[in-house]
Amino acid sequence: PIPLVIDTDTAQDDCVAILAGLLTPEADLRGITMVAGNVGFDRQVKNAFMTFNVAAKQVPMYLGSRLPLVRPWESAENVHGDGAGGLDMDFSGFEPEAEHAVDALLRMADEAAGELNVVAIGPLTNIALAVRKRPEFASQVKHLVVMGGSNNARGNITAAAEFNFYVDPEAAKIVFDAGFNVTVVPWAPLTLKQAVFGRDVLDRIAQIETPLAHFFTSVCSATLAFDESVGIPGTTHPDSLSVAVLLRPELVTKSAQYNVDIETGSELTRGYAAMSWGVHGLAANATVIEEIDADGFRDFLLDMLGQTTQP
Ligand code: BDR
Ligand code: CA
Repeated sequence: PIPLVIDTDTAQDDCVAILAGLLTPEADLRGITMVAGNVGFDRQVKNAFMTFNVAAKQVPMYLGSRLPLVRPWESAENVHGDGAGGLDMDFSGFEPEAEHAVDALLRMADEAAGELNVVAIGPLTNIALAVRKRPEFASQVKHLVVMGGSNNARGNITAAAEFNFYVDPEAAKIVFDAGFNVTVVPWAPLTLKQAVFGRDVLDRIAQIETPLAHFFTSVCSATLAFDESVGIPGTTHPDSLSVAVLLRPELVTKSAQYNVDIETGSELTRGYAAMSWGVHGLAANATVIEEIDADGFRDFLLDMLGQTTQP
């Protein structure tokens, strides 16, 4: 099994990503760490506990940074609503751990002795704090998969920037400068082209008679309405794709080495990910996913949603 931690701002596709970490046979999910992002922090905690509930499986949850490193928190509640489509499942009996997420990340890296993987699907505040607290953390992590940025294409929160990098650009810059073995799953063009589920796929999921599939339909409902209102033909799944990239690397059909740097100075382009492909003489610091086996990714999630759980 592949040891991993998911660092998450749990709403919509983060829930699906956690399900993939919990229920994919080759995954050894050691915990999740919570970071300020998509919706209110306490609501994110609730969304993650509801995800454990529907999976009938839980791992330790560690609470991390409630704010970006230096900026005020900005949410994406206009896109995500409460992040779970109004779902209000029982989550009594679930408690977060007392240990802080940053300490938990460092401890889990020690325990895994070079084998720990981290999938970061929210703003990079916790990961940046961990590497600031202990710079060697970057070399202790076997593989860091980051969902964020866009590859020379459009942003989703501003014209220039994708949400995760926009919310905490200083953290993202620290992470790309830290020397991780890092793979980036960009918002555009990758997610918009190949990790979008249109009505055809959503109808198939609606016909799967499992609690997991019903949960999927609910947590994706707010984003579906938003996405369709802005011309995106379905729900977007960059976070669960990030988990899939770690667990099923054969789904990646094209990737390339880039120098990735994050804009922190300008307000207009705050959080923009500059991805230089070598012509500028900058050393590569990241692998960027460019194309995936989209049918294989869809089937990865459909198979997972078809599993029967007993919440
Ligand atoms: C990112 O922000 C959220 O909308 C998603 O969970 C993803 O992590 C995309 O910009
Ligand atoms: Ca996310």
